[in-house]
Amino acid sequence: MGKTVIISNRLPLQLQNNNETLSATPSVGGLATGVKSVHTKDKDLWIGWNGLSEEDTQNIDQKEIDDLLTAHGCANVALNQDDVEGFYFGFSNRTIWPLFHYFLEYAEFELSFWEAYKRVNQKFADAIIANCAEEDTIWVHDYQLMLVPQMVREQWPDATIGFFLHIPFPSYEIFRVMPWRKEVIQGLLGADLLGFHTYDYERHFLSSVRRLLGLEVSFNDIYLDNRVIKVDSFPMGIDYDKFEQAAIAHNSLMPQNRSDLQQRLDKHKISTPDAKFLLSIDRLDYSKGIAKRLKSFEYFLQKYPEYQQKVRLIILAVPSRSNVPQYQLLKKEIDELVGRINGELATVNWTPIWYFYRSLPFENLIDLYTSCDIAWLTPIRDGMNLVAKEYIATRTDQSGVLILSEMAGSANEMMESLLINPNNFEQIADTIHDAISMPMAEQQARNKTLQERLRRYNVGKWATDFMESLQAQKNNNVSFSSRKITASVAKKIKTAYDTAQKRLVFLDYDGTLVGFHKNPKKASPDAGLYEILEHFHNDPKTDLYLISGRDKQTFTNWFMPKGYNMVTEHGVWISRAGSDFTLLENVKNDWMDKIRPVLESFVDRTPGSFIEEKNYSLAWHYRNTDPDFGQLRCTELTTVLTSLIANDNLSVLNGNKVLEIKNSGVNKGRVASKLFMEDSYDFVMAIGDDWTDEYMFEELPEMATTIKVGPKKTHAKYFVENTEKVRELLKQLLEE
Ligand code: ADP
Ligand code: G6P
Repeated sequence: MGKTVIISNRLPLQLQNNNETLSATPSVGGLATGVKSVHTKDKDLWIGWNGLSEEDTQNIDQKEIDDLLTAHGCANVALNQDDVEGFYFGFSNRTIWPLFHYFLEYAEFELSFWEAYKRVNQKFADAIIANCAEEDTIWVHDYQLMLVPQMVREQWPDATIGFFLHIPFPSYEIFRVMPWRKEVIQGLLGADLLGFHTYDYERHFLSSVRRLLGLEVSFNDIYLDNRVIKVDSFPMGIDYDKFEQAAIAHNSLMPQNRSDLQQRLDKHKISTPDAKFLLSIDRLDYSKGIAKRLKSFEYFLQKYPEYQQKVRLIILAVPSRSNVPQYQLLKKEIDELVGRINGELATVNWTPIWYFYRSLPFENLIDLYTSCDIAWLTPIRDGMNLVAKEYIATRTDQSGVLILSEMAGSANEMMESLLINPNNFEQIADTIHDAISMPMAEQQARNKTLQERLRRYNVGKWATDFMESLQAQKNNNVSFSSRKITASVAKKIKTAYDTAQKRLVFLDYDGTLVGFHKNPKKASPDAGLYEILEHFHNDPKTDLYLISGRDKQTFTNWFMPKGYNMVTEHGVWISRAGSDFTLLENVKNDWMDKIRPVLESFVDRTPGSFIEEKNYSLAWHYRNTDPDFGQLRCTELTTVLTSLIANDNLSVLNGNKVLEIKNSGVNKGRVASKLFMEDSYDFVMAIGDDWTDEYMFEELPEMATTIKVGPKKTHAKYFVENTEKVRELLKQLLEE
């Protein structure tokens, strides 16, 4: 068992070079503070950037840097100034960050930023290859490193790779705006497991995968040729005990041992006992809605003037990404707003806003959390917002009110807080009023429930859940790989094929011999395919059957002149050696007039879908519809049909982007086993791609070589990745 390796842009510590003296401070931001709690520095490795460029550390002995990082279980990815500019300040924070937080107007699409992003992602991938082994578990974090999973996968096809996004994944309508959207998705798909904070982000991601890459997605599994990628939501928690214990320790301090900040807060509490403290803590970031919060605070004081002199807002803004122009503008705007509001409303005894623009040590954070009656966190968009959770964890007497933006990921788990829309000033003003007047019993009841939940689903549980899910997914993929037709397996099949006296071969058509086409009529056989089939057909030792859900007319056109054996409509019709099709089963089609109008109404309401009419079945195809909408309509149609056909001995087959209504009891498995009984075959092979082929895999005898195309769950013994591999295998069998 290898080690766990965490990879993120930020390491948990940031280096500073003060006149050639190296020092380190803890990183701020949810990723670093959260993941730090699950990083065991003696066992695991954390790979990331130390916060200084190579030029910044020219005068410092490299070994000193490495030693310092090693002592914290970390390894450095060296970035030069160009990297920092183009990758960090550029693509990460001037393209992805605004776009993913729905600030479309701030997103810049600079080719040079993208080039730097690719280059630096490659540096991270190289650092992983240099510092880890293929059996290690690799956990890549956040939007700065979305290409890394695929870059590592290219070097190490069997690696175990997880990825977690700490920010929102936007709706497809926003994501599609980015010129390099496909490359980003492909980069992420190098992972085995992709984690998001909420189900909404997960659903947006899956929708982009379907629409941009047209990949098959079933529930939260994405199917590539030879791997399945799982996508799931794991809401990140906090180190609950750490915050609770810190608050307990803080509350037991003698007044004289308290921090300066706490002593000042205490003084104000004593002088104005009925005054209330509102707390706002964030990195100084436009996504956090600090400017709106200030304006709505001013509005609150105008709407409820009785609270003037009585309510103080403590704003703590942590400096962040100060090279990015939008952040500089925001800083200026906030400085001015604080100045103006304080200037207009302050009295000799009362300053409405206390504004701190700095990073504070942990103990001061606890001072603020424990001293403030109300935490007021109103991001415009926030992947999670851990501050909200930290505030609740420190309220050991369960007093305190949390006002939280419904746009924060944490709102999904914190329904007991007062949820507001950060753009609705009226609602905000009224909610602050409600928070101030909330009876203690109600505060405690709400916080009790919140605390129980946060204690249970803490950051440790989050990491364990992610890791267990990653391992399970890996095991699934390993079980596919172990059944993959490797060179040696192919050789074994060939030997059995060569030595057999009489062979029976079933080949499904669409998705097995040819790929899917937008228009099924156009997926006609090519010369290469005819050549392969011709060889099987002409071999007197082999009985070849093309076995398909297709209608008999299409197969008549394509294969009748060749004289191939064919089974169509999933087992209704059979034609041997060029003879006319005859019915294999006693089936009816008088039900079609009842079902057709239902399908027609779905075609009318689902652009891109169409009906295929066969002799004994009707199929509703939705491959060319909007993928999400098509899926929705498919579910709706299944429900409608299921109740409609209840007494008709019919069944609804849910195939690959097609719903087919057909007679029950007719299936490929039944035909295949009937045909098997006709002669004494000592080699049987069946190849197919969708679940209608599973009937064959299940019903053929154990000696049969059954092969599934694609890595879906199957009863087949083996799998191959795609139609090209099927043809390769067939050609191999034919070789002298
Ligand atoms: P984001 O990740 O967008 O910055 P979060 O609320 O998820 O937002 O995480 C912020 C983290 O940074 C929290 O864990 C919080 O404790 C920490 N933090 C916030 N403000 C400060 C500060 N002034 N000094 C030190 N750490 C801070
Ligand atoms: C958010 C991001 C993190 C980032 C943090 C601080 O939490 O999700 O990836 O580290 O903000 O931002 P910074 O740019 O300073 O790393």
